[in-house]
Amino acid sequence: MKTVAIIGAGQMGSGIAQTAAQYGKTVLLCDVSIDLAEKAKAGIEKILGRLVAKEKISAADAAVTLGRITPVGDYAQMGAADIIIEAATEREEVKRKIFEAVSMVLAPTAILASNTSSIPITRMGATVPDPARFIGLHFFNPVPLMALIEVIPGLATSADTTARTRAFAESLGKEVVLAGDEPGFVVNRILIPMLNEAVCVLGAGMGSIVDIDKGCRLGLNHPMGPLELADFVGLDTCFEIIKVLHDTTGDPRYRPAPLLVKYVEAGWLGRKTGRGFYDYSGDVPVPTR
Ligand code: CAA
Ligand code: NAD
Repeated sequence: MKTVAIIGAGQMGSGIAQTAAQYGKTVLLCDVSIDLAEKAKAGIEKILGRLVAKEKISAADAAVTLGRITPVGDYAQMGAADIIIEAATEREEVKRKIFEAVSMVLAPTAILASNTSSIPITRMGATVPDPARFIGLHFFNPVPLMALIEVIPGLATSADTTARTRAFAESLGKEVVLAGDEPGFVVNRILIPMLNEAVCVLGAGMGSIVDIDKGCRLGLNHPMGPLELADFVGLDTCFEIIKVLHDTTGDPRYRPAPLLVKYVEAGWLGRKTGRGFYDYSGDVPVPTR
């Protein structure tokens, strides 16, 4: 697959665009406006610039990579894509509207994939014209550095779509695991309840932000503590995922931590808004409690 269209140019869409371009794909990148897609491309340019400064890639390679990414303002050009990857906000109604609109231009053999972190693929696939070509393609953050992609076939996804999606994921230099179509799939079904529990531990006054994170970093050898990681993922995204687990399974163990709900309601969404469990306005993150 040579041409990749990406809908949603936030941290994941940008990371997917950078990785796909570095692996030789032609990338069409869009968001709710062309300005946001341009801004994402400028962010990728900055990251590539840093890699050039560190002599990890050449200036010529950075220029070629950047040249493969075209911001677009609508879906018209996406008929040329072999695969369209939706990486917009983790809200089912947002994603459904995108699928409806982009299905009008999807080429006859092209695949429509969702980078959803949690929403059942079968349920969303039932809303598109050809569920056999709809699949979950779950990247990890930060995409250029993380080795894994989960591939999640829905009930109606064809074996051919699964095989082609897997080959595409591998063509980006990633390892693939096949995950069952249950809310959260495999990795987030394990990770997100842990992050939610860390917020419960904080809310119950059992430890400070610093000690909870230090405890997991040093006691479990995790590269980031759970509150640091929740800020990194985005507290809105963590909240939406745990809500999908709770609503879809009906299991009370997935109840969103009340303090997580409060942070989201305050608009403190983590790194992307400059404040979450840490304040990111200075040179180093400062715990907020
Ligand atoms: N592209 C390519 N290379 C990059 C890069 C990019 N965008 N950004 C950084 N790099 C390079 C850097 O140049 C650096 O190289 P050198 O070490 O040779 O200088 C290297 O990658 C590491 O960069 P950093 O020093 O910034 O990174 P670090 O060592 O502090 O590690 C981290 C950062 C990889 C994010 C690490 O902290 C980590 O693994 N954290 C946990 C991440 C995690 O758990 N992600 C999963 C989240 S859950 C999810 O994604 C699923 C979901 O649905 C919510
Ligand atoms: P983000 O908030 O950084 O970016 C979301 C982007 O989607 C924003 O730029 C927003 O403007 C855009 N968007 C919203 N509605 C849109 C629409 N109708 N059309 C086009 N663009 C639209 O979020 P993110 O972290 O990049 O997450 C995106 C998706 O990837 C979510 O489904 C999330 O669950 C999933 N995901 C996130 C992570 C993570 O660690 N953050 C990891 C894996 C998967």
